[in-house]
Amino acid sequence: MTRAGPAADDPRTLPVTDAGRPLARARFSDRTRAIATRGAAGWTVSDRAAELAAGGADIIALGVGNVDLPTPAHVVAAAHESLDRGRTHYSAIAGEPALRAAVAQRVRRRCGASVTDGQVVVFPGAQSALFSAIQCLAGPGDEVILLEPVYATYEAVVAAAGATPVPVSLRTEAGFALDLRRIEAAMTPRTRALLLNTPNNPAGYVLSAPDVEALALACARHGLWLVSDEVYGEITFGAAHASPGAVAAVRDRLVIVDSLSKSHAMTGWRIGWAIGPPDLAHHLATLAQAELFGSPTFIQDAAVAALEGPQEICAAIRALYRERRDTLLAGLATVPGVTPFPSQGGMFLLADVAATGLRGDRFAAELLDATGVAVVPGEAFGASVADCVRIGLTQPVARLQEACARMRAWRAGSPAVTGR
Ligand SMILES: Cc1ncc(COP(=O)(O)O)c(C=O)c1O
Repeated sequence: MTRAGPAADDPRTLPVTDAGRPLARARFSDRTRAIATRGAAGWTVSDRAAELAAGGADIIALGVGNVDLPTPAHVVAAAHESLDRGRTHYSAIAGEPALRAAVAQRVRRRCGASVTDGQVVVFPGAQSALFSAIQCLAGPGDEVILLEPVYATYEAVVAAAGATPVPVSLRTEAGFALDLRRIEAAMTPRTRALLLNTPNNPAGYVLSAPDVEALALACARHGLWLVSDEVYGEITFGAAHASPGAVAAVRDRLVIVDSLSKSHAMTGWRIGWAIGPPDLAHHLATLAQAELFGSPTFIQDAAVAALEGPQEICAAIRALYRERRDTLLAGLATVPGVTPFPSQGGMFLLADVAATGLRGDRFAAELLDATGVAVVPGEAFGASVADCVRIGLTQPVARLQEACARMRAWRAGSPAVTGR
């Protein structure tokens, strides 16, 4: 029999001074516990896959959403030029004027919104913009509605502000659909904001313009902020992305969060922004001062080049992911027990694996062991998709075909399925 040792906060485990007096333990904040959400735990399969790959295994990594195209050459050149010009000092806290202007113009062009440069605040990526926006909009005692399946970091972003995430599932028999009645039923006097992500990670749905407008108006009726995460706005396979920025009645409560990560193959540059009404932009800039003291100047110069230069990269990424989506849908249709939801945009699709008798987490773990294919358990995106896995469109067509072939052989009970 093993005996449990003393608990971590047992005074006997505390260090003592030379005089034998116990010292008090320094503690972590409650918020550190709150941010350890299931979204954070969703990466264990991908982490293990990375370890196996480092050990020489033939892993097909369909987990993390890295765009596998190079950043356009003119953008890289703009960063070099900026460095050569000595643009290596502090930037304006809310962002370089040229970048704020380029972003505002892009949004005006895309959705007709009358956004001014001063409404744009630059952050190192959409993730940071999202985090900062929620810090400004919600706190302890407040609730934030998340539409499930939900991007894996949202829960932690809300919890880090001390607020409570309130998930509302969009899952239906056939896929995912906006159920306004259910969403409005979740709105309470404590609700401060709703977080929208279309095209959606992980499910790949793209909400129609009427749906986006109806949701935006519901937020307005209930006095909520609407935070619209538009990082996949350029990657649609059918109908174009609809932004709530086009809904005039909600512009005083709308926060648009976006970046160049996915649209311009710039995930590692860490450059994004939040756009809100002027008073929110002021608060965001104050928070950015406390948190960042500005973003790197030469990266902002490169971002201006990305926004104002040739835009072929966006169409190239769209075409590439569409082809991969088609490949995966065709390949997965031949895997027993796996039913993919046809994605209409973004970089991922969800597949229901309930018919294999495994939950998403077991499926993902066993799939990696048996075949070297890494996917993300649906649980990371909410309880309503725990019977699913997320599969990334992040590998060339031939590797996706190979992944489907390994999966098919594994489900058919063939022993020789792994590339390891
Ligand atoms: C829905 C969604 N929002 C935000 C982000 C973060 O993007 P960024 O690289 O701009 O921080 C991601 C990254 O995968 C995402 O999928």
